[in-house]
Amino acid sequence: MENKQVGFGTKAIHAGNVKDSVYGALSMPIYQTSTFFFENCEQGGKRFAGEEGGYIYTRLGNPTASVLEDKVAALEGGEAAAVMSSGMGAISSVLWSVASAGSHIIADGTLYGCTFALLSHGLTRYGVEVSFVDTSDPAKVKEALQENTVAVYLETPANPNLKIADLAAVSEVVHAYNPEIKVICDNTFATPYLQNPLALGVDVVVHSATKYLNGHGDVIAGFAVGKKEFIDTVKKFGIKDMTGSVIGPFEAFLILRGLKTLEIRVQRHCENARKIAAYLAANPKVEKVYYPGLESHPGHEVAKKQMRDFGGMLSFEVAGGKEAGMKLCNSLKLCTIAVSLGDAETLVEHPASMTHSTYTAEELKEAGIPDGLVRMSTGLENAEDIIADLEQAFEQI
Ligand SMILES: Cc1ncc(COP(=O)(O)O)c(C=O)c1O
Repeated sequence: MENKQVGFGTKAIHAGNVKDSVYGALSMPIYQTSTFFFENCEQGGKRFAGEEGGYIYTRLGNPTASVLEDKVAALEGGEAAAVMSSGMGAISSVLWSVASAGSHIIADGTLYGCTFALLSHGLTRYGVEVSFVDTSDPAKVKEALQENTVAVYLETPANPNLKIADLAAVSEVVHAYNPEIKVICDNTFATPYLQNPLALGVDVVVHSATKYLNGHGDVIAGFAVGKKEFIDTVKKFGIKDMTGSVIGPFEAFLILRGLKTLEIRVQRHCENARKIAAYLAANPKVEKVYYPGLESHPGHEVAKKQMRDFGGMLSFEVAGGKEAGMKLCNSLKLCTIAVSLGDAETLVEHPASMTHSTYTAEELKEAGIPDGLVRMSTGLENAEDIIADLEQAFEQI
């Protein structure tokens, strides 16, 4: 696609596409092959030596995955992207690529549960030092920087309490200290439609594409996006040698299909979340609503500055605590109790016993994740129907 000025929806449909010169297929075909033949041994040798383009083996690259990578790089405004078989595959491939024994990583305490586990119980086993700090305060990040710091890792909005970090401010303090330190941002909750961390100074964006990017609840996948040199390292070392987190061509195809509607889906998710948050905020049976679109949210102003809209995720605490929250979830008829997010269906879950069960009770408290918190991924149903379902469930408690 020549014109870089086209809108997000146009890019999501056209960027990175290659014309199928063999059969003229409009949709990118699924190259369901593990390996690629060489015309002769000399050609195979040249491809391995990087002296000639072309594919070798799907763990090292695949045409369906390549189109997807180019599209996501365009959507995030990055030089290159690497697609992986899960969000955790992307996060671990990136972290293995930046850290080694003796290095130091700064991360926020509020993270998706398995990312928190990877940092707090995983990498630390291999001699990596990790400091958990409140990244919503750039001064605290500055204070935590050390000579051996190699990465600052954050999520914004964060899972599950929608905490916001100021991406430009954090990137500035980190790079002023040492431009080599990688600021890494998990952009899963926002999607590239709502927020482009690279444009704000972040070095690497990671995604669980399982969520909004695919959008249909039928794929597990992840991405890393950033400078080509770094993404090449993630591919050649992080994925190829360390995690082997390779996407299947069929999954790549499904994400290509999902991305065509990303913009309109996210717009609807945002519209629904706004209406549901307003309903919950006015409900006397709700103690607190966590949604960056509410003026009462501590990160509201920063979110307004760095996001196009506030996203489809929200959390809330029901008066009566965990027991009341569980009862509410169990009483829902349209909304489904399930982890994951960004699907067409509205999903609710209890972070303390599900997605964030990797945290101890003390760690949850420290991270500002209350025991009674209910997380909702607003779906694409009609908002009035979701609200009516909540209303009948509240009547049960
Ligand atoms: C913010 C965030 N990042 C990363 C992940 C991990 O992604 P995956 O399940 O695709 O490995 C999740 C999963 O829920 C998530 O919510």
